[in-house]
Amino acid sequence: MKHTRVKDLLNSNNTLHEVNAKGWVRTFRNNQFIALNDGSTINNIQCVVDFENTAEETLKRITTGAAISVTGNLVESKGAGQKYEIQVKKLEILGDSDAEKFPMQPKKHSLEFLRENAHLRVRTNAFGAIMRIRSVLSFAVHSYFQQKGFVYVNTPIITGADAEGAGEMFQITSLPLNNLPKNEEGNIDYKKDFFGKHTNLTVSGQLEGETFAMALGQIYTFGPTFRAENSNTSRHLAEFWMIEPEVAFNNLDDNMDLAEDFIQYVIKFAMDKCGDDLKFLEGRLLDEEKSKPQAERSEMALLEKLNFVLENNFKRVSYTEAIDILRDCTPNKKKKFQYIINEWGADLQSEHERYLVEKHFKCPVILFDYPANIKAFYMRLNEDGKTVRAMDILFPGIGEIVGGSQREERFDVLVEKMKALGIDEEELWWYLDTRRFGSAVHSGFGLGFERLVLFVTGMTNIRDVIAFPRTPQNADF
Ligand code: 4AD
Ligand code: MG
Repeated sequence: MKHTRVKDLLNSNNTLHEVNAKGWVRTFRNNQFIALNDGSTINNIQCVVDFENTAEETLKRITTGAAISVTGNLVESKGAGQKYEIQVKKLEILGDSDAEKFPMQPKKHSLEFLRENAHLRVRTNAFGAIMRIRSVLSFAVHSYFQQKGFVYVNTPIITGADAEGAGEMFQITSLPLNNLPKNEEGNIDYKKDFFGKHTNLTVSGQLEGETFAMALGQIYTFGPTFRAENSNTSRHLAEFWMIEPEVAFNNLDDNMDLAEDFIQYVIKFAMDKCGDDLKFLEGRLLDEEKSKPQAERSEMALLEKLNFVLENNFKRVSYTEAIDILRDCTPNKKKKFQYIINEWGADLQSEHERYLVEKHFKCPVILFDYPANIKAFYMRLNEDGKTVRAMDILFPGIGEIVGGSQREERFDVLVEKMKALGIDEEELWWYLDTRRFGSAVHSGFGLGFERLVLFVTGMTNIRDVIAFPRTPQNADF
């Protein structure tokens, strides 16, 4: 007999004769009531065991974590909280679980403990919900761009370019590390390496993405990216997923419009599809808030916060305006910031970004026109000669969620910039070709997928929204 997913059973329009469900036992009460979960929904189905006619031996094996198969009628439930339950006629233990040793006990565990058990944490309500929402969000990403006729491009994960400028890179090599071949100058001879040159894991698909945008018009990438920065924070991963659209003939304003519309679409998509999971996470957060002092509690519940982002335009503010606000703000004057803002040109730290979003504007903010010298080489220089057409989108509780720009389409200006920064023109010959042959205004951005999932789920540590996080000193599982 084919089994039916718990979600479909709970959503049934009527009672059913003889159904089969398979899943894992969450709890077993009074030798009679099994809460069964199969991952299709956050909700368990109650399975009522006929304990008088079930062998003592079998009852003992219905333990938290065990895999079981139950067959019986789907009947209206007499208990509160559920419409239907299964009146079990036949119960089979598929896989025993040693209840005493099973780490996912039916009680609240710390997130730290759950991270150490990342292979089992997905069996909890919270992580089941997070991972289902993550899956729906990634579908939403494709849905948005495909609907608009963007072409999905898979840019390489192994890159020969050292100069993308988005962060420290992980080298990859097949050379024997304890016996490296040397060239005549005594340096490592990468000609003998697998690709005949020095290679890294990519930090971004943008540069390759631009070449495709200059042919296909509108493209997006969605793939893993790698950064070897030693940033042990709740917002950084060494391996994370990024979505990078790139659009020919878009200027920075078009780029902002696209980013805002895209983010609102995917959040709405998740709200429409993941109601139960979001409601659960909202409740979990409210519980957590109760243990915090009043001043630290957030002003909005999760769904209210998501709705707020859908209903309000993102505030667009130039870097120069932002610096004025920050220079005069109380935490700056009282030296409460770790990095004091003194003058125009300062790089913004996450404490400043969060002040702007959470305290000053109290809504998502798009900062644009940053000083050229704190941004990447490929951003378009403004007429003032000192700022570039960059944009960062800042979100409450997250800080930077998107980084993007209008690209420098003028060959001469780009080459000059690369020279000034010591970026090898020969290495990026192919990138410069886009400016040699049919160059045009174009723009794009990168959205950190895990930061989006953080925002939508209301979680606070990025390690909790990816299956198996990679961070400094940690690559378990
Ligand atoms: O601002 P970034 O470095 O921009 C780029 O890589 C550009 N090439 C994007 C483009 O224009 N196509 O990174 C983009 C986003 C950040 O805003 C952030 O959300 C996320 O990627 N991000 C990280 N997420 C998790 N862990 C990290 N270490 C991250 N670094 C960046
Ligand atoms: Mg950035």
